[in-house]
Amino acid sequence: MIRDSLPKIITELPGPKSKEVIEKRKKAIPSSIGCASPFVIDKGEGAMVMDLDGNIIMDWVGGIGALNIGYSNEEVIEAVKAQAERYFHPQINTLHYAEYIDLAETLNTISPGSFRKRTAFFNSGSEAVDNAVKIARKYSGRTEIIAFSGAFHGRTFMSMTLTSGQIFKAGFMPLAPGVHRAEFPNEYRTDENVKTEDLPGYYLDKLKYMFVDYVDPKKVAAIIIEPIQGEGGFISAPIEYIKGLRSLCDQYGILLIADEVQTGYCRTGRLYATEYWADAGVYSDILITAKAMGGGLPISAVTARDEIMEALAPGEIGGTYGGNPLACASALKVIEILRRDDYAGKAMAIGEKCSAAFKDWYGKYESIGTYRVIGAMVSIEFVKDRKTKEPDPETANKILEICRSKGLILKSAGSYNQIVRALMPLVVTDEQIKAGLLILEEAIKMAAA
Ligand SMILES: Cc1ncc(COP(=O)(O)O)c(C=O)c1O
Repeated sequence: MIRDSLPKIITELPGPKSKEVIEKRKKAIPSSIGCASPFVIDKGEGAMVMDLDGNIIMDWVGGIGALNIGYSNEEVIEAVKAQAERYFHPQINTLHYAEYIDLAETLNTISPGSFRKRTAFFNSGSEAVDNAVKIARKYSGRTEIIAFSGAFHGRTFMSMTLTSGQIFKAGFMPLAPGVHRAEFPNEYRTDENVKTEDLPGYYLDKLKYMFVDYVDPKKVAAIIIEPIQGEGGFISAPIEYIKGLRSLCDQYGILLIADEVQTGYCRTGRLYATEYWADAGVYSDILITAKAMGGGLPISAVTARDEIMEALAPGEIGGTYGGNPLACASALKVIEILRRDDYAGKAMAIGEKCSAAFKDWYGKYESIGTYRVIGAMVSIEFVKDRKTKEPDPETANKILEICRSKGLILKSAGSYNQIVRALMPLVVTDEQIKAGLLILEEAIKMAAA
């Protein structure tokens, strides 16, 4: 049992058995599908992984946010096994099956907003993003879509176009037409003469100017936004900005799409990050979720107001595997557990521990430009100089490397990869958090030296 273990490295890295597999990988799969980790997994439990050589590693990437429930949850395993024994794949356009319908009903009920909704399932976050755009265009009869700087929405052609950052797009042009870019209200990277309380208005004015200068708002089908940017580095859009965005959408008949692929299912201390919006009376028209919903099986969802979803005719959305019964069975059980066992509370508790540590470190290490903690969505941004805020991807990378050598896996984020982020499974124990934070602090210290 490694569920309650702490990281323990017992071999050179990679260990001999891992090395053999990694060498094969180098020849068999494209190097564009990269992986800096020196570990080949043998098994995973909770937040912990054992590699083929017996090294015990703490995984604070959690399948890039897919494993809020952790590795090898017994109840989820049982639910998937029971489903596997009945049928794998009748396909939703061919036969009715209850798991798809039950999961849709669940999402329609638990997602923010008491209005009537419908949910369709897909396989990945990117695919759900593409379909959300299709749905918005069909319903509105409009073509244009607005996305944000620093956004990540995926790697298919439409979702890649919506994604910001040349790193994801260079060499793949031409992109999908009809996409415009607004500036995300990233407070840390805003001119410091703009006061915090003026930030929402400052960025809303920029958006309004876009409507005057670049794009006719009456042609805009939707604005798509991550409530908290994931790959962008865990940057929240202030609620006053969201309120302003909603009223601009209402003014011009634009749909508001919330991409909660990374923030959904308790990561932020709420079941959905858009529950924070709901506290202020704001709801999205279309909600995209994926990742943690499936607990590691591939499934994504588009949940939209009834009348929006019903604008589409049969055959206009869907696909062979969307809402596969095994993934639905997993998702139904995952959601039941997340709600029953207060995983949102667990995320909050993790965040509090990280917040206390990060605050202390900010006082000690000049390389930390800022840090962000929203539930268990935690990140630290590294800079060469606190005054100029010049991003420091080298330090971030060094820290990731040192952490890996000590058995802690983390991931970078941000436009320059200057941010170190953690998406730890929410079942991580108190001792494991303590051990992980010790390793991370040691790495920050060593990288600075
Ligand atoms: C906010 C957001 N949207 C969409 C995606 C794309 O999801 P997928 O990788 O499942 O296609 C991601 C992936 O990280 C994401 O973070």
